[in-house]
Amino acid sequence: MCGIVAYIGQKEAYPIVLKGLKRLEYRGYDSSGIALLNDGLKVYKRKGKVAELEEMLIGKDLHSHIGIGHTRWATHGEPNDRNAHPHTSSNGKLAMIHNGIIENYGQIKQELTKKGYVFKSDTDTEALLYFIEDIQKHHKVNLEEAVRIALRRVVGAYVIVLIDKDNPDTLIAARKGSPLVIGIGKDEHFLASDASPIIEYTNKVVYVNDYELAIIRPDELILKNLGNEKITPHIQQLDLELAAIEKGGYEHFMLKEIFEQPDTIFDCLRGRMDAKEGSLRMAGVDKNIEQLKNANRFIIVACGTSWHAGLVAEYIFEELCRIPVEVEYASEFRYRNPVIHKGDVIFAVSQSGETADTLVAIERAKEQGAFIFGIVNVVGSSIARISDAGAYTHAGPEIGVASTKAFTAQLAVLTMIALKIAQEKGTLPSKRFMHLLNELHDLPAKAQTMLESNEYIEKLAQKYSAARDALYLGRGYNFPIALEGALKLKEISYIHAEGYPAAEMKHGPIALVDEQLPVIIVATKDSYHEKIISNIQEIKARKGKVIALITAGDTIITEMADDVVEVPEADELVAPMLSVIPLQLLAYHIGVARGLDVDKPRNLAKSVTVE
Ligand code: G6P
Repeated sequence: MCGIVAYIGQKEAYPIVLKGLKRLEYRGYDSSGIALLNDGLKVYKRKGKVAELEEMLIGKDLHSHIGIGHTRWATHGEPNDRNAHPHTSSNGKLAMIHNGIIENYGQIKQELTKKGYVFKSDTDTEALLYFIEDIQKHHKVNLEEAVRIALRRVVGAYVIVLIDKDNPDTLIAARKGSPLVIGIGKDEHFLASDASPIIEYTNKVVYVNDYELAIIRPDELILKNLGNEKITPHIQQLDLELAAIEKGGYEHFMLKEIFEQPDTIFDCLRGRMDAKEGSLRMAGVDKNIEQLKNANRFIIVACGTSWHAGLVAEYIFEELCRIPVEVEYASEFRYRNPVIHKGDVIFAVSQSGETADTLVAIERAKEQGAFIFGIVNVVGSSIARISDAGAYTHAGPEIGVASTKAFTAQLAVLTMIALKIAQEKGTLPSKRFMHLLNELHDLPAKAQTMLESNEYIEKLAQKYSAARDALYLGRGYNFPIALEGALKLKEISYIHAEGYPAAEMKHGPIALVDEQLPVIIVATKDSYHEKIISNIQEIKARKGKVIALITAGDTIITEMADDVVEVPEADELVAPMLSVIPLQLLAYHIGVARGLDVDKPRNLAKSVTVE
């Protein structure tokens, strides 16, 4: 949530910072801004997307070897020019960008107002900046020390980066709870919320940890803790290719990412399982197998799409491992004072690895003695680092705000974990184990077949793009897929959509059914098949429009439904990884048909680092 970029070195800062902001725009796009040192401190900011800032700056003298930039997802104060970052201190010497929330900003602001400070924005950020300025003035300390003193008082989450007109060779940055990566080049440094703005310049990076402060000069990177002790930076090699963060000929990142799924599922399975040999190896699971197979209970914590992956996993884990599972919204779990025992294993599922609620939920559970297993896409992210063990999903960077390929990769990893634990625990007959390994092995090819329906789904999307509401139904393993389909439609097309267990429909949502309402039913062949046919009948009897996802060749439902989408035949346990694909495509094409920016839907952000 909010993207920050900064540069210091020999090159022109503006083009580097601007390009970085475009790469980070998925994190927020209400407004953006840049501060440069060019004959004094220059700050340019603008409501709207980064392209609007860029347009405003055409023809300006932007020469500077140091710069900071920000793309915002509003928390405190509406998205407008005034609340956009960077903010400047009241003496006009400092500029600061911030990602996160300063929870006690109200109190700090009151104190500063009494001292005569006049605030220009409604943001929490400005309160922190003026506080730093005030400390500098009254304690007669340098900026680094003032930042340190201020941060000891601050409650909340932050990454901040400051430039100082009087110190044009230094950037000061600090982190707690929000991500910060520093790229190390030759006599230059790059700072960003993730590695995507950095990768084309260097692959040497340092992930800054909580409560660390960085003093960055072109040829020097000093890391300190808030107690002013030096810390040796842990330099890591980035394993990321530039092509992975570009659109590669697709109109939108979302479409590219949907189409990448045969490859991302394959990458996720590769090196871990071999269907011919019947082997399955996952380092994080193998090393901790005693803990996992003897767990009293699995608790899956996640948000958004990752929470839906957790729901599918609940069915899979209970079926295969016979261990009770609870799936929790991280935001509820963290505040609920949940009962956690030593024998509990918490699975944290997260694409970004930075979602604030998920991160704090596992911190709390860890304090109470639970074992934390992270299922994360972004390598080196906060959740990955805090977990006791884990498995990466290896889906590559996901840039479209609506999660697609990360979801199927999460399902693939969760399924393999369940298989491995069940095998070790002895709750899964070897014949079924082998069958499911083969089913996983065949998934990438089936996902490819599924994508061949793209043009057909595009036509369906035209037909239903004017709908006001939509209902998504499923049962068993496909119930969470109905939820995910509805979420995708809401996010991308702004059509109100609800997901429901198909049988539960009669306890409420059936009242909505009329000839206008599209009802999307995930009705692939599984152990609930006969039951879901009855649910389709119930909708048809009330003149609802049924769009059914069916197993290829299912003539019975084809005759009943208004439209069908064929899904390749697969075991019910792995079928969700296929049936979600047409729902992703449907949402995508409806969003496009309605003329919306599907990669950056209104009000949303990809990485939600505020609670
Ligand atoms: C945001 C994103 C969703 C994502 C959710 C959880 O809401 O827009 O796509 O599912 O956060 O994020 P995570 O990175 O933890 O999976």
